[in-house]
Amino acid sequence: MKKKVLVTGGTGYIGSHAIIDLLENGYDVVCVDNGINSDPSSLEAIKKITGVSVPFYCIDLCDRQESEKIFLEHTDIDGIIHFAALKAVGESVEKPILYFRNNLESLINILDLSIKYDVKAFIFSSSCTVYGDVSQSPVDENTPWQDAASPYGRTKQIGEQIITDSLKHTKVKSILLRYFNPAGAHPSALLGESPVNPPQNLVPVITETAIGKRNQMTVYGTDYPTRDGSCIRDYIHVCDLAHAHTLCLKHIFLDKQSQQSDTFNVGIGNGLSVLEIIDAFEKQTGQVLNYTKGARRPGDVMAIYSDYTKAKKILGWQPKYDVNDIMRTAWEWEKHRSKSM
Ligand code: NAD
Ligand code: WQD
Repeated sequence: MKKKVLVTGGTGYIGSHAIIDLLENGYDVVCVDNGINSDPSSLEAIKKITGVSVPFYCIDLCDRQESEKIFLEHTDIDGIIHFAALKAVGESVEKPILYFRNNLESLINILDLSIKYDVKAFIFSSSCTVYGDVSQSPVDENTPWQDAASPYGRTKQIGEQIITDSLKHTKVKSILLRYFNPAGAHPSALLGESPVNPPQNLVPVITETAIGKRNQMTVYGTDYPTRDGSCIRDYIHVCDLAHAHTLCLKHIFLDKQSQQSDTFNVGIGNGLSVLEIIDAFEKQTGQVLNYTKGARRPGDVMAIYSDYTKAKKILGWQPKYDVNDIMRTAWEWEKHRSKSM
């Protein structure tokens, strides 16, 4: 019997790639999203890529009663991957209540329902942002948390704690995945990041500048004490990240997880600077990027990258894509979506 997985935030960037990986690995999928930062066109792309029409609910997970309808219609949900959240760091500073309400109410509702309906596995989208402004990299899962740099980051710290406390005495096992910097797009170029609001993350800013949607981009800070003065991050291809979720479910379904909750970093363990990312983009695509060197962006961490030894050892997870694949697939996706606009 195929296992059934509910993917929340499934029309969004990472969720839609995870749905493809789940379908390709023999899972049945149900998707829920309220469309606050995406639209159901990603489900059409998923259909083109996999041939599967995924059942879709347009529901706000902050509405518990509406959310319960999914479980009443699908009484056999084995696992949940909870992607649904607002994720814009700057917006969270301006509208903290919106972020606390949306990200935490939806989480509490979906946890409550997963306990009530005997779900076996709960996978949560956490973030390297929980580590805060670290003084050293690589960071492993035991690296102590610093103060969250934004209300968004705080929702991930609190979210992790709510999950472990709420599921402690239940049969639901959880995995908290701390993503580093997801980027890139599906190799088909039919699916990628297509947010409703203008992106602030480096890779979409680069591709939007190269295609002409933005005149110029700014490198935020070239006076950091790093090898070229710009900030260092751990960029992970979205398809590699998606596959980590499938492995987490498998790990729990095969009863390989003894503890109630576990945590894994998902990054590629290699820090690259902003200028190195721009250089990789130019080399991979032949484009010359119009950028300027500007001031530091408030709240930016100088350097952070992962130690992912634990995910490799316990989940058998290993990244397949590198920075060149990230830049190439991101650019192919940008060209594809700009054509259809
Ligand atoms: P995304 O915005 O593309 O996807 C999130 C989806 O959740 C969106 O489609 C949105 O419409 C939906 N959503 C939000 N609130 C909802 C609600 N109350 N009810 C139903 N649907 C709701 O973002 P993403 O990049 O795919 O991120 C997915 C998850 O991964 C988020 O939890 C995010 O915080 C986390 N994360 C993202 C990154 C990143 O850089 N992209 C890094 C670390 C962690
Ligand atoms: C990367 C680097 C910028 C845009 C954010 C969230 C974090 C996590 C991942 C969700 C930085 C520089 C960027 C630009 C630039 N998300 N940059 N010019 O800040 O590492 O992390 O996404 O959990 O919580 O904070 O990612 O892509 O915004 O920035 O120079 O126009 O690119 O300064 O050094 P970040 P990012």
